Amino acid sequence: MSVSQQVAVDLKSGFRVVYPQDFTLPGSLARAFDAAGIAHQAGSFPFAGTDPDVSVAYLVEAERLAALGSKEKITHALGLIEHEGNAATVVVTDPGETAMMWLAESEHVAGWLLRPLDPVAVVATMTAARRMLKDRRETDRMSEMADAMTQETDRLLQIGVALSAERDISKLHELIVRNARELTRADGGSLFLVEKDDTGADKLRFAVAQTGPNDAGTHLGAVLPLTRGSVAGYVALSGEVVRIPDAYEIPESSEYRFNQSFDKQNGYRSKSMMVVPMRDHENAIVGVIQLINRKPDFDLVLTSPTMTEQVVDPFTARDESVLLSLASQAGVALENKALLESIQDLFEQFVRASVKAIEVRDKSTQGHSSRVAELTIAQAVAANTVEAGRFANLHFNEDALREMRYAALLHDFGKVAVPEYIFGKAKKLPDGKLDAIRLRFLLAINQIESLGARRKFELLQSGVALDDHRIVEIDADTISRAGELQALLGTVESANEPRVVAAEAGALLDSIIGKTYHDLEEEKPLLEAAEFDFLHIPRGSLSNDERHKMEQHVTQSFYFLREIPWNKTPWRNVPDLAYGHHEHLDGTGYPRGLKGTEIAPQVRMLTIADVYDALTAKDRPYKAAMPVDRALDILVKEFAQRGKVDSELLDLFIARKVYEAIDPTAKG
Ligand SMILES: [Fe+2]
Ligand SMILES: [Fe+2]
Repeated sequence: MSVSQQVAVDLKSGFRVVYPQDFTLPGSLARAFDAAGIAHQAGSFPFAGTDPDVSVAYLVEAERLAALGSKEKITHALGLIEHEGNAATVVVTDPGETAMMWLAESEHVAGWLLRPLDPVAVVATMTAARRMLKDRRETDRMSEMADAMTQETDRLLQIGVALSAERDISKLHELIVRNARELTRADGGSLFLVEKDDTGADKLRFAVAQTGPNDAGTHLGAVLPLTRGSVAGYVALSGEVVRIPDAYEIPESSEYRFNQSFDKQNGYRSKSMMVVPMRDHENAIVGVIQLINRKPDFDLVLTSPTMTEQVVDPFTARDESVLLSLASQAGVALENKALLESIQDLFEQFVRASVKAIEVRDKSTQGHSSRVAELTIAQAVAANTVEAGRFANLHFNEDALREMRYAALLHDFGKVAVPEYIFGKAKKLPDGKLDAIRLRFLLAINQIESLGARRKFELLQSGVALDDHRIVEIDADTISRAGELQALLGTVESANEPRVVAAEAGALLDSIIGKTYHDLEEEKPLLEAAEFDFLHIPRGSLSNDERHKMEQHVTQSFYFLREIPWNKTPWRNVPDLAYGHHEHLDGTGYPRGLKGTEIAPQVRMLTIADVYDALTAKDRPYKAAMPVDRALDILVKEFAQRGKVDSELLDLFIARKVYEAIDPTAKG
């Protein structure tokens, strides 16, 4: 049947004239209608059409309309007729009748006929009404289509926004397939990505597959060779869209074949199929979206191959253009995501390089940054699982965790600005100092002994006997003074250790003041003032000045981190978090002496991690590694109970064995 024939038939069968039951239709008029091929019938008044596909011209007398009452009532009735179906009213009245003249201007009236009805005039009027109704129908259809397209465009825009907002790559893959399926009512859908393998050859990665209305998707990750033999491969290589009514009936002449293995394994029947390429902004093909089985309704569940064969339709050209439009958005979203990932990767490398820079300078803290990061994150993850008490409202999302990780990895970066000898300082005296002091003491002892020998020699030369009491006294004095210096050297050596100085050791040290040895030409003190100060360090191995320099690393970390434009990332608090890692809740920390709520939970976790690792680290020069239970004990007694670290967080750290994050064999 040709198109023109189809339209002609539609026109005739799709239109009829209806008149009230008691309307007297002159025989000449009925014959004129028949001759013109215009269907006509009597019907109720007001007329309610039954067939929505049939347009109706309603022929009614002005008097009958007038009987309805007021102008409003008449207008309302005519409106009803018109809206009931695709209908219009043609009014019949007497010549010169003016009472109903207002009706002639009504938008519901399509024609005006005078009695006696002239068949030619009636047929002409009805034909005009029919054309008017047909145009109106066409206009309605067009505007419906325009509405549908607007909706589709809105939907595509929404999808575009959703795709660009999704930062989880797996979810993005799911979202692309899900939206592609919903837009085209496809039962199944898969996403293939074009990737390079280790040798640089292009491969097709089967990223995700969904089947059925509620399937979130299976992430397969299988890597397939990229050839024109599979439909997806063909599309990825050729850039052509493939639209097949039945995947089982691909013509022999086609380069590609449909792989039925999924169907065979799952009792599925893949029938209609549409596969489109996804491109990036440079028009390069980055992947392929493959859709299977277009259904009358997306929510319909295909329960059997038989049902599939019955209900599944081929994909339409419209589906194709919608899918292509989605595919281009998806391609760009994937590209953006890949770009973002490469930036993140770059950043990650940069952070790692920074950590290395600290560790190269300060070998003693090798691995410290990474361990502190692990311990901090493990605490946050543990806090996320607690739904009661204070932690109920404390939740760290992926960005918050990453922010903490960066802060923890870089918390000690400022150490690059701390003089190198301070890191490795294992004793109170700077390196080499003790040897110099030893030499001075030995020299002094030597000088005492040679002085004694000289005095003895002089006495013996003057004739004094060897057993004279003066000789004996010189010997005793020499031995005692040399012994005293030897003992004092022992005191210096033990005071040099980084442990706490005992009161008596302090007094002994003081007794060295004023003791001298003879340099080439002058007397010099055995211990210089600065050396006294070092040996008097009350705790640890660092002098006040050195400690101050060491503590500066926090401020230096902050200055360094502040230079990075974190504000443009979701991890804007990194500098602040790192800045607080040596603060204590009771205000005794440094450098700012922050207190209580001024210290964020993330920072509190970082502090616990930092102290724990400093205590248990196996590679610090100034102290031996501490067993886990001892370290936890110190954390509880010296830090939590003294109000320095957050005791609830520490409880969690201990209860959840968070410390196992860095050493699973650790026992609490
Ligand atoms: Fe630190
Ligand atoms: Fe640290």
